[in-house]
Amino acid sequence: MYAALLPQVRALLEGETDWIANLANVVAALREAFGFFWIGFYRVKDGELVLGPFQGPVACTRIAFDRGVCGHAYRTGATVIVPDVELFPGHIACSSLSKSEIVVPVRNSLGEICAVLDVDSDRLDDFSEEDRAGLESLVGLLANHSR
Ligand code: SME
Repeated sequence: MYAALLPQVRALLEGETDWIANLANVVAALREAFGFFWIGFYRVKDGELVLGPFQGPVACTRIAFDRGVCGHAYRTGATVIVPDVELFPGHIACSSLSKSEIVVPVRNSLGEICAVLDVDSDRLDDFSEEDRAGLESLVGLLANHSR
């Protein structure tokens, strides 16, 4: 499914320079393809992570760099897979229905982390190495469309 999604997303981004429009279409494409419970971006802004385009229930708007799975992914610069959110120290529960989660750092063309992609599932242990590779490739497409 990721192999099918990548060219679609590449085509969606092509020629569009607006950062928010591109993030919005990426979450919508992911939602349509996989139907995950919550999919969204937190952008690096004003020294913290600020909620960007998302699909799913309302979520917390600001996350400090030293908080949550999102902050952890930002600080380490690496994708974090959390099979059971209750076992992750400092996990921020935006919804009690979220059971597992993956957070992928998004880099701009300078290699700086400018956002993180957060995908939540209402099922335990729902994210695999395939998701890691697929989502990392997907956000890699954003590098030349970021600011
Ligand atoms: N669980 C995330 C917070 C964002 S919500 O899940 C949408 C975290 O611990 O960083």
